[in-house]
Amino acid sequence: MKGIILAGGAGTRLKPLTLVTSKQLLPVYNRPMIFYPLETLIQAGIKDILIIVAPDRAGDFLRVLGSGKEFNAKFTYEIQERPEGLAQAFIIGETFIGRDSVSMILGDNIFFDDRQQIRQGVKSFKRGARVYAKKVSDPERYGVVEFTKNMRAKGIVEKPKVPRSTYAVTGLYTYDNRVVELTKSLKPSPRGELEITDLNNIYLHRRLLDVKIFEGEWLDTGTFDSLLLANTVAAERLRGKTIAV
Ligand code: DAU
Repeated sequence: MKGIILAGGAGTRLKPLTLVTSKQLLPVYNRPMIFYPLETLIQAGIKDILIIVAPDRAGDFLRVLGSGKEFNAKFTYEIQERPEGLAQAFIIGETFIGRDSVSMILGDNIFFDDRQQIRQGVKSFKRGARVYAKKVSDPERYGVVEFTKNMRAKGIVEKPKVPRSTYAVTGLYTYDNRVVELTKSLKPSPRGELEITDLNNIYLHRRLLDVKIFEGEWLDTGTFDSLLLANTVAAERLRGKTIAV
């Protein structure tokens, strides 16, 4: 299994913080944000990792992360010229992925996986796709899973105005090798992006998508308030305490 960390984008919502560097390198308590998703992949046993970055920030990432040796891993870097969608990572990463399956994590997503669910999810993965959903109070900000009465996933809608559930799809996705070809069949959405939600729906409609409910703690750091919360939660956890969020 290969790993991808998607850490591109302009960080527009976090300006002026992101005038100095990428959002994914901003501090979350005592470490740059990207250390958290990186650790999630490494703890899941994934050591061969592609880091996709924006063109003007590549130097910053190299300086912070280097070759991967210090993490007992191997890092490869690629540039995403423009933020044209999360799924574009599988086109940029085609050669890197080769004939393997791949787990992609967003560089601004933080998972506290106390029960090692992600590690198990990666280890037991065989084919199709696997995503993790988490109950949230503001589902309209995310990809939202619609379930049948028996809690089978029926569809995923990206940022719905009227969400059909409160389960958001988190930023960690595992796919088999078909992902590269399936991504090439996607058309850009009205916002001009190759949408990961479209990709997940293809797997879902082929009955190949496994939606797991994530039991740990998940934080997305896309806004000032969620970044502040991530700092607080990370600090409490690293000091050995857990607080309710
Ligand atoms: O956080 C989970 C959510 O991530 C999912 O629930 C949604 O289905 C998914 O679309 C995504 O939504 P966001 O609104 O959070 O996506 P955003 O455009 O903010 O991008 C997420 C991260 O990926 C962000 O750190 C920037 C980076 N990115 C984004 C795009 C569109 C890239 O590196 N390249 C890109 O082309």
